[in-house]
Amino acid sequence: MLNIKNTGTATLTIGDKTIKLPILEGSEHEKAIDIRALRKETGFITYDPGFVNTGCCKSDITYIDGEKGILRYRGYGINDLADTCEFVEVAYLLVHGTLPNKKQQTEFSEHLNNHSMLHEDMRHFFNNFPDHAHPMATLSAMAVSLSSFYPELEDTSTQENIDYKVTRLLSKMRTAAAFSYKKSIGHPIVQPRHDLTYCENFLNMMFSTPVNNYQVDPIVAKALNKLLILHADHEQNCSASVVKMVGSSEANLYASISAGICALWGPLHGGANQHVIEMLERIIEEDNGDVKKVIERAKDKNDSFRLMGVGHRVYKSYDPRAKVAKQMCKDVLAKLGTNDPLVDLAQELEEAVLADEYFQSRSLYPNIDFYTGLTYRAMGIPTNMFTVMFAIGRIPGWIAQWLEMKEDPHGRIGRPRQIYTGPTQRSIS
Ligand code: SDX
Repeated sequence: MLNIKNTGTATLTIGDKTIKLPILEGSEHEKAIDIRALRKETGFITYDPGFVNTGCCKSDITYIDGEKGILRYRGYGINDLADTCEFVEVAYLLVHGTLPNKKQQTEFSEHLNNHSMLHEDMRHFFNNFPDHAHPMATLSAMAVSLSSFYPELEDTSTQENIDYKVTRLLSKMRTAAAFSYKKSIGHPIVQPRHDLTYCENFLNMMFSTPVNNYQVDPIVAKALNKLLILHADHEQNCSASVVKMVGSSEANLYASISAGICALWGPLHGGANQHVIEMLERIIEEDNGDVKKVIERAKDKNDSFRLMGVGHRVYKSYDPRAKVAKQMCKDVLAKLGTNDPLVDLAQELEEAVLADEYFQSRSLYPNIDFYTGLTYRAMGIPTNMFTVMFAIGRIPGWIAQWLEMKEDPHGRIGRPRQIYTGPTQRSIS
C-alpha cells in the first residue's frame, strides 16, 4: 500500500457530544474522513445510497480524476498504455503492479496459451444452453464452473498459483466467449491455437469456419487489443465492488468473477454498449433519425428513457476512454473501407448532448460505452457480444481488485448498515 497519510482531524458535533475523526489523504491528495469509529463513539451511522460519497477501501491499482478526465493504471496514463502496450502486458501490470520484463511476459503468455482450452466436459454445457441465450449468462456460468474443474487453484499463497489462476481465467473466458458465439449461430467451435496472440486467437475462434481459411486482419486485432486495454480496470465500479463483496465472504475467485459478470451485464453498467447500438437503431427505425426528439425524451422526467452511453458517476468531464474509442471507431472504419450510418448519428447525438444546457448543467458526457459498440460492430462482432467483450477486458482488473482485497490485513466481510423504516413491533394475535 503506497503512502496514505493522516493529515489532521474533522470535528463532528452531535447534540452535546463532539468527536474528532481522522482525515486521510492518498498519494494523489484525495481526502477522506475516516468514520470507522463513528457508530461506537456516537451510535450514529452514515446514509449514502449508491455509495456516492463513500470510500470502501484504499487501493494502489487505478486512479481516476473525474473532473480532469484522468485515468491511470498503476500510475501509467491510459493513452500511453493503449498506444504502446499489448493487453497481456496491461493484465500483468494490473495484477502484479509492474509492466512485465521480456522473461515475465514470455512466461505469462505461455501460461495463457497452455490454459486456453476448456475441459471437454465444459464444452457440453454449451449444448444445453438455448441458441438465443445471452452470452453474458453463458460466460457467468462458465466462470463459476471453473471452480469445479480446477479446485486446486483455491490457494493463492504462491505467486505461481496466482499466475495460474489469472491466466486460466483470462484465457478460458476468452475461449468460452468465442464458443458461446459459435453455439448461438450453429457453427462448430474452433479451438485456440498456440501460434496466435491473445487477440488473434479470439478473432480466429470467432470467425474461422471449416470452409473458410479465416485470416486475422491486423487492423482488427490491433483495435481489439486497444479496446481490451481501455476496459481493463476502473477502480471501485459496480461490478468490481460485487467481485470484492463476494470475495470478502471468502468465496473463491471464480465465483466472485462470475458475480461480477452478472453485475456488468446491467444496462446502467457494461450492458450500455449493447443498448447504445439498439438505441441508435431505434432512432433511425422509429424516429427517422430525429435526434432532437430523443434529446427531449432524455430530459423529460416523466419519461424513463435515458441516453445510453452518456453520463457517469465519476467522470464529470469527457471520459478519456471515450475519446480514444471515438478516434478508433473512425480509424477502423476508414482502414476497413466501410462506413456505418450509426456512426454519423452517434456524432450528431454527441454534438446535441454537448450543446444542451440540461446535460452541461449535470456534467453529462459520452462515456466509454458510447463509441465502443460501433467499433466492435465495424470489426464484425455481433451486438449481443459487446458486453462480453467488456467483460473479457475487465477480467484482469477484477482479479487485481480481488487479490488486493484478499491481501489487506484489515480486510473484513462487506456488510453495509441501513436505516429501518418498516413497522415498529406488533403482535400477530
Ligand atoms: C460504465 O462506475 C464505472 O466506472 C463504470 C464504468 C466502468 O468502466 O466500470 O465506467 C462503465 O458503467 C459506464 C456507464 C454506462 N451506463 C450508461 O451509459 C447508462 C446511461 N447513464 C446513466 O444511467 C447514468 O449516467 C449512470 C448510471 C452512468 C450514472 O448514474 P448516477 O451517477 O447515479 O447519476 P444519476 O442517475 O443520479 O444522474 C444525475 C442526473 C439526474 O438528473 P437530476 O435528477 O439531477 O435532474 O443526471 C441525469 C439524471 O436524470 N442523467 C441522465 C443520464 N444520466 C444521468 N439523463 C439522461 N440521460 C442519461 N444518460
